[in-house]
Amino acid sequence: MDTLIERAREALTTAYVPYSEYRVGAALRTADGDIFTGCNIENANYSNSLHAEEVAIGAAVAAGHQEFDRLAVSSGVRDGVTPCGMCRQTLAEFCEDDLMVVCDCGDDEVATYTLGDLLPETITESTLIDAADNDSPHDTREPDGRESS
Ligand code: THU
Ligand code: ZN
Repeated sequence: MDTLIERAREALTTAYVPYSEYRVGAALRTADGDIFTGCNIENANYSNSLHAEEVAIGAAVAAGHQEFDRLAVSSGVRDGVTPCGMCRQTLAEFCEDDLMVVCDCGDDEVATYTLGDLLPETITESTLIDAADNDSPHDTREPDGRESS
């Protein structure tokens, strides 16, 4: 069994999921081999619920890590759940397209993706830098990018 999947399975045991009853655990490995885990933590207003991947990356970044090479995700029903769209974008803030994302399909089965597979054409810091570079006095375009008439 993949060590990181084992850690994700352990992590989901402390999920706080009174509303969905859908447990998720995540385990994120740093470039230097440390592992940070997280579980989902729901809230009565629903929208404040934290996702397992957010909790894991939050713990890692708070501990001073910003480089990662592998993420494992598991749900209590071992359905191969993948990070949701929001979590994919959160991961993309710190991880390259080649981050390996390993999803628990039960027993020893996993589905493996890269972050680039899951979230192509991501908005990143460079998107904003490129936009700022284009915002010069010589730029004849409108703020929305259309050519001015
Ligand atoms: N969930 C996660 O923890 N990670 C995801 O990316 C998908 C969804 C949680 C949120 C909520 O507590 C439950 O799964 C049902 O959506
Ligand atoms: Zn999510």
